[in-house]
Amino acid sequence: MRPTLVVGNWKMNGSKAVAESLCKSIIAGLSADDTGIAVCVPYVYLADAAALTQGTPLAVGAQNVADQASGAYTGEVSAAMLKEFNCEFALVGHSERRSYYGDSNASVAARFEQAIAQGLTPILCIGETLEQREQDQTFSVIDEQLDAVIDKVGIEAFKQAVIAYEPVWAIGTGKTASDEQAQEVHKYIRERIAQKNLEIAGRLQILYGGSVKPDNAKGLFAMPDIDGGLIGGASLDAEGFLKIYRAA
Ligand code: PGA
Repeated sequence: MRPTLVVGNWKMNGSKAVAESLCKSIIAGLSADDTGIAVCVPYVYLADAAALTQGTPLAVGAQNVADQASGAYTGEVSAAMLKEFNCEFALVGHSERRSYYGDSNASVAARFEQAIAQGLTPILCIGETLEQREQDQTFSVIDEQLDAVIDKVGIEAFKQAVIAYEPVWAIGTGKTASDEQAQEVHKYIRERIAQKNLEIAGRLQILYGGSVKPDNAKGLFAMPDIDGGLIGGASLDAEGFLKIYRAA
C-alpha cells in the first residue's frame, strides 16, 4: 500500500490573515501522528506558513518554482529560496500555468529538475483539455507531458516526485471525472512509468485533481491507482479540506 497524500492548492486566493487562519484551523484538526497533508500557498505567505506549521503534521509547498537555479530572471523564485522556507513540495506544470503563462513541456521539465536538485518534491501536474478528450487524445497528451520530464531528468528522479492527474475540464468547473474515468488514466500513467522502472511505478504517488469535494473524495480515493488528491477550491475551507483528507 502506498501512503496517501492530500495537497491543497490555494491558487491566488486569500490574504495574510486568511492564510494564517487557514493554516491554524487545519493544524487544529490534525493529530500528531497524521501524515500526508500539505498546502501550496502563494509565495508571499510561505514565511508565515513555515512558522505556523513548524513541528506540526502540515507540510508546505509552493505553487511553482523557477526553471533556473539563480540569476537575472525577474519575477521568478528559485528552488533554493523555497527550501529556505521549509518548503517540501512545489507544483510544476499546473494547467493554469501552462495555459495562462505559457509554461511549456520543456519549461515544466526544467522546473521539475530544479526542484529535484534542491531536494524539493515536485508535484508534476498533467492532464488533457475537454477538446483533447473528445478527440481521443487523452493518452497521447499524457505521454507528451510525461515524456518531456522523463527525457530531461530520467526516471530515477521520480523516486522523489509526485504526479497529479488533473483533467483540465474538471478544474474549478464542478465537473469531476468519474471514479472510473480517473482510475483509467491513473492506471495508464502508472503503467507508462512501469515500462521504465517497475519499482518506482509501484511506489509513485499519483494524485487526482479537479473539483474534488468532501462528498466525492471517498469514491475517487478508493480507486486502486489514486493515492490522494490535489485540491483547489475546496482547500480554502479548513473543515472541508480536513474531510477530504480523512477520506484518503
Ligand atoms: P479545483 O482545482 O479543486 O478547484 O478544481 C484543482 C487544481 O487546480 O489543482
